[in-house]
Amino acid sequence: MKLEINSNSWNYRDGTLYCEDVPLDLIGREVGTPVYVYSYQHLVDRFNEAKNAWGERESLVCFSLKSNSSLGVAAALIDEGAGVDVVSGGELFRALKAGASPDTIVYAGVGKTSSEIAEALRAGILFFTVESIPELHRINEIAEEMGEIAPVALRVTPDVDPQTHKYITTGKAENKFGLDPEASLDFYRLCRDLDGIDPVGIQMHIGSQILLTEPYREGAERLIAMLGRLKEEGLELKYLDIGGGMGVSYQEEDPPAIGDYARTVAPLLQGLRLKIIMEPGRFITANAGVLLTQVVYLKKKEKKNFIIIDAAMNDIIRPVLYQAYHQIVPITPRENKDITADIVGPICETGDLLGASRQIPEPVADDYLAIMSAGAYGYVMSSNYNSRPRPAEVMVKGDQYRVIRKRETYIDLIRGEQLPDFREEL
Ligand code: LLP
Repeated sequence: MKLEINSNSWNYRDGTLYCEDVPLDLIGREVGTPVYVYSYQHLVDRFNEAKNAWGERESLVCFSLKSNSSLGVAAALIDEGAGVDVVSGGELFRALKAGASPDTIVYAGVGKTSSEIAEALRAGILFFTVESIPELHRINEIAEEMGEIAPVALRVTPDVDPQTHKYITTGKAENKFGLDPEASLDFYRLCRDLDGIDPVGIQMHIGSQILLTEPYREGAERLIAMLGRLKEEGLELKYLDIGGGMGVSYQEEDPPAIGDYARTVAPLLQGLRLKIIMEPGRFITANAGVLLTQVVYLKKKEKKNFIIIDAAMNDIIRPVLYQAYHQIVPITPRENKDITADIVGPICETGDLLGASRQIPEPVADDYLAIMSAGAYGYVMSSNYNSRPRPAEVMVKGDQYRVIRKRETYIDLIRGEQLPDFREEL
């Protein structure tokens, strides 16, 4: 079996797929399935590629926690020097629990609530990425009440087309995020009039799974043009944040190296004393993880074959939601001839399709399969649909592995629920 992804952490040895030096069937037997498995080395290597992308220029990589918010994953990256990009009070809580230093946390999102803003101010984050004028006023009021000054960066939608899936395109004028470049001058002028606000940066995030460097150059160019105009008005910003979105290989895509994105933007920065921030999520986590699953039944109907597995759309929603392709491979491929089958979960929806018409050596019940490239937007987007307990998560380092999140139990499924006390006694 050939792996389409390009990673040193996942390799067949003597006919069995390994994560680093641990055979995946061992994890299947000892921890059960479905289970997310992450390679520590892959996480750290990818983070360091991002960290080194800018060479001599001062930079900070704020790992985008939304791609994988498990404490074990975040802590591995924070230990290497990662800051964190958060989008909710819950993510801020997780980032701090994982050991992030508050002054390396950036906080984006179009609907930050008052309590979330207060929590972030109390923590002392690096800056808020502000997405609207009403939000700026809200932050100002709360900061003043608390006797704080809120550092802010404006999120600009530079109106570039990153040529990715429409659900994950975020930097176009018609998207809900940020403000138009023309509005940004007024934004910063307003900042100057607000006592609770300190404008420190400018940000963009143009989309996700972007396989071209050019949209970053175009976007950064528009932001930098703005910096020039602000300077004329006596306002100098410290941070240029180009967001995340750097693409990865799920199949046979050939994404740029993260240094290529940096090299495309760097010439625009000459003569500017800016610290660069990037917010990669998927780039670091996608190919660091797989979802390990077991075949429940092989079912042959007249028109189609089905491999029914114990993972489902509640565990990994990307194939259903974005028609995303994830390679699915046997852990120990059999010598059997290939069959073509839909690989489906047990959920009562036709959409519970994880791989359509896949050609794969014919498996038998209990064989292990891996859904590849599942480290980003996998567990974080899982749910309990059909009252399925969420899977466990495991981190592999060398020849060792640890459970970093236990599998949910049936009791977890009903935690916090109570019967209404107006219910008639039966
Ligand atoms: N920064 C901001 C402000 C973001 O909104 C995002 C992602 C990132 C950074 C990280 O983007 P990344 O480097 O991971 O592409 N659920 C979708 C992806 C949604 C991305 C949302 N924002 C998926 O599974 O493809």
